Amino acid sequence: MSREQKFDDLFTEVINSPELELPALSSDEVEMVYSHTKQLIGTMVEYKELMMMYTCAIKEVKTKFDVLNTEFNVRYRRNPIEFISTRLKRTSSIAEKLQNKGLAMTPQNIEENLNDVAGVRVICAYIDDIYSIADALIQQDDITLIARKDYIASPKPNGYRSLHLIVSVPVFFAEEKRDMRVEVQIRTIAMDFWASLEHQLKYKQAVENEQEIVDRLRDCAEVIASTDREMLSIRSEIEMAADIPSEDDILFEKIKNFDVPIY
Ligand code: GTP
Ligand code: MG
Repeated sequence: MSREQKFDDLFTEVINSPELELPALSSDEVEMVYSHTKQLIGTMVEYKELMMMYTCAIKEVKTKFDVLNTEFNVRYRRNPIEFISTRLKRTSSIAEKLQNKGLAMTPQNIEENLNDVAGVRVICAYIDDIYSIADALIQQDDITLIARKDYIASPKPNGYRSLHLIVSVPVFFAEEKRDMRVEVQIRTIAMDFWASLEHQLKYKQAVENEQEIVDRLRDCAEVIASTDREMLSIRSEIEMAADIPSEDDILFEKIKNFDVPIY
């Protein structure tokens, strides 16, 4: 049975159901209800498919970061990425954002106006890893950079720091290829720690001493930024202090780790 036929049957069943106390409707009105309901269901199906596509785009981008992390680990025995988290924007947040822009909740408006339906957050230990990982992603020839906001170089007035990228990635489905937008946020563990506490403040209404909390958070952000810089500087010094290995040493080190499992 086709989707069309199933819908017709379902509609007839509902409209004729004895529990449904519909006022007497003219055939024109029944036709109108029918066409609106059908349109609504069509939009819901289209919305669900769009969310599936964003979910797949998240997988593509997450895999790219996983691959970079694995490569880095095998080559340098160090993980630039601590962890990756992903999220699909909730329907209520999508609706609210479109409403704030004065737009109707349609799949087309979502695709054309929202950049953050698909979100990938990458947490690194060190600041230099943030930039290396971001550059390695942007360089890939199937990735198109749409926007880049460096809130590490230019923090927000409240102290927020992160590197934000909006990228477009092609996703291959059974019968089509779709370029999907994904928001990537890359930050250090410490910046992430700060952002999650600051985020809580945004969602609490009427916090007592709000100004004082805002000020303390800004101070924390400064301390965190300076700790991040210091940690990087210490790591670099340790790396430099180690004897510069010869080519043979490097090869020997690689062979020693030959059977270490690759993740
Ligand atoms: P939206 O805020 O999503 O409408 O996007 P925007 O165009 O303002 O982009 P921006 O890059 O500034 O922020 C995108 C996302 O980064 C937000 O949705 C948050 O997840 C995060 N973010 C930005 N600013 C802050 C901040 O001050 N605090 C925290 N905790 N997160 C922030
Ligand atoms: Mg957002």
